[in-house]
Amino acid sequence: MLIEIADKSGFCFGVERAIELTEQAAEKHGEVYTLGPLIHNETVTDSLEKKGIHIAADIEQAAGKPLVIRSHGVTRKVQEQAEAVCSDCIDATCPFVKKIHKIVSEQPEGAAVIILGDEKHPEVIGIKGHARCRAFVCKDFADIKALFDSGTLSLDKDAALVIQTTFDRGRFLEYSQEIRKHYSRVTIYDTICSATSERQKNAEELAKRAELMIVVGGKHSSNTGKLAEICARHCTTVFVENAAELSKRLVKGLRSDSIIGITAGASTPAYTIREVHRTMDEIIKTNENEELDFASMLEQSFRRVYTNNRVKATVVGINKNEAVVELGTKQTGYIPLDELTNDPNATVADVVSIGDEIDAIVTKVDDSNGVIFLSKKKVDSALGMEKIAASKEANETLEGVVSAAVKGGVIVITNGTRVFIPASQTGVPRSGKLEDLVKKTVQFKVIEINEQRGRVVGSIRQANREVRDAEKAKFWESIEVGQKFEGEVRSIEDYGVFVDIGAVDGLVRTSELTWNRVSHPKDIVSIGDKITVIVKSYDPEKKRVSLSAKDPDENPWTKFVADYAVDDVIKATVVSITEFGAFAQIIPGVDGLIHISQISTERVTNIANVLAVGQEVDVKIIDIDADKNRVSLSMKALMEDAAPAEETDAE
Ligand code: F3S
Repeated sequence: MLIEIADKSGFCFGVERAIELTEQAAEKHGEVYTLGPLIHNETVTDSLEKKGIHIAADIEQAAGKPLVIRSHGVTRKVQEQAEAVCSDCIDATCPFVKKIHKIVSEQPEGAAVIILGDEKHPEVIGIKGHARCRAFVCKDFADIKALFDSGTLSLDKDAALVIQTTFDRGRFLEYSQEIRKHYSRVTIYDTICSATSERQKNAEELAKRAELMIVVGGKHSSNTGKLAEICARHCTTVFVENAAELSKRLVKGLRSDSIIGITAGASTPAYTIREVHRTMDEIIKTNENEELDFASMLEQSFRRVYTNNRVKATVVGINKNEAVVELGTKQTGYIPLDELTNDPNATVADVVSIGDEIDAIVTKVDDSNGVIFLSKKKVDSALGMEKIAASKEANETLEGVVSAAVKGGVIVITNGTRVFIPASQTGVPRSGKLEDLVKKTVQFKVIEINEQRGRVVGSIRQANREVRDAEKAKFWESIEVGQKFEGEVRSIEDYGVFVDIGAVDGLVRTSELTWNRVSHPKDIVSIGDKITVIVKSYDPEKKRVSLSAKDPDENPWTKFVADYAVDDVIKATVVSITEFGAFAQIIPGVDGLIHISQISTERVTNIANVLAVGQEVDVKIIDIDADKNRVSLSMKALMEDAAPAEETDAE
């Protein structure tokens, strides 16, 4: 840390001169009185007291004694009184203030004097007391304007404007512009003392560079208070009267290269400034020694890491673009999002959580800024590459998430590693879109790996094919007649439909689609329909499976056999006519054949001359072949049954 004292600080010329004159008078007279404190600084006034320099509250108190008029000056009347009643009157009024007294006293009787300043300040009171014409104290332009607006002052009459020596120059310039614009008869005398403005300017310049400013001066000194106010705009500022108020606390937390500035008000003696400087110097040295000890202990407790080190780090913070990690070093670690993962769609929170302990590789150590940059994906990639190589060796299928569709294929992230899947190996048809795979989890086989170049090529198709082959093998191992499947109609042919039952497509012949008569499969199913099928037979060699969609519980033959028997006379409906006979439906799903020879007792040559489709006929069941699900019907038998009766009747 560096201590700098502002160029212009401490006693101004006027104060220094006043003290010198007073000390000389004290030496000459043994003791001397000052009309009010020489300066607003208790430390200084205490030490002056020890030299026989006392403070008089008024002229009477110093009657008959030597009296010093301090740098602020007094009214003409007070000065005349002092000269009359005191044994000696030493005028230590600052020459700059004296100059204002002269300007004011020279204004003619009919004119007016405006004093810009603080009406309670002794300097202003003294100035006002030197005017031989009307005098007004204004604190700002509004006060001046009010004098003219109220008619107290006339726009047509001359007036002189003087300014308290310590008045703020910025405000004065602002007001003087307005005064010149509106009140042309006002003559402005710039009586601001440059000692004040220069001290303020110097203090401000130093405060801008410093991390801490120490402003030294009496607590009642307005110019010291003003300095503290200016410095506080730029850095931490403390206002002390002397070195006794300084403490180690002031430098706690300051950087080792900090500047500590010291400035002092006009009433602060040089020895006080020197004492403050020396004390601060000691504080800094003590603090640096303590910090050195602490720093070396701290340094020893920290481990060092270097670029390319693989380290364990604990996640202590997560934000949008990076993870903040702690790795037992004095620096803070950062892992940018693109070094966390290869997945461009992932967020920081997708990859790590606070408290996670992760492996990472140091990519950069920035000691000057106390930060370390790391990469998690490099570790993941290296580990991932090992796992992928092992998987290829073992011919295992890997799983990953498609992170992007790129030219010629897609990128899959697995084990923190990028795997390229060529378009031809994605399983997406030429007409399909690779983008549809993005963000999907896929299984793939590794078909090429180059660990040096970090390049891995995979195939989703190959993995799919292996899955299908495995499913097929399992299917043929476990298939049984009567096994039930939920399948999907893949294609429709004249002779039946092919149904996807998982590993293979099985055939359901038309006659096996339903218990009822069907002229074409498309009359009852469509491609994509989901249907329940039962395995009727299968041939593992030829990879063929015959299926039936008929529900055994709904088998109409079961019902028929239970309800009907040979010799039963029933009604049936002709449903088709062939050359050898007519088929007639007994119940839905069970048709019987009326052979051409069983239609009539007479010879029938053309069935259509005797029967028509839709015709209901009375028939006798003459045979039931339960094995072949065949029923023979006869109309002729009914006719023959009736014949003997007729013959008997004839007899
Ligand atoms: Fe004189 Fe300026 Fe000091 S007016 S007393 S030198 S501040």
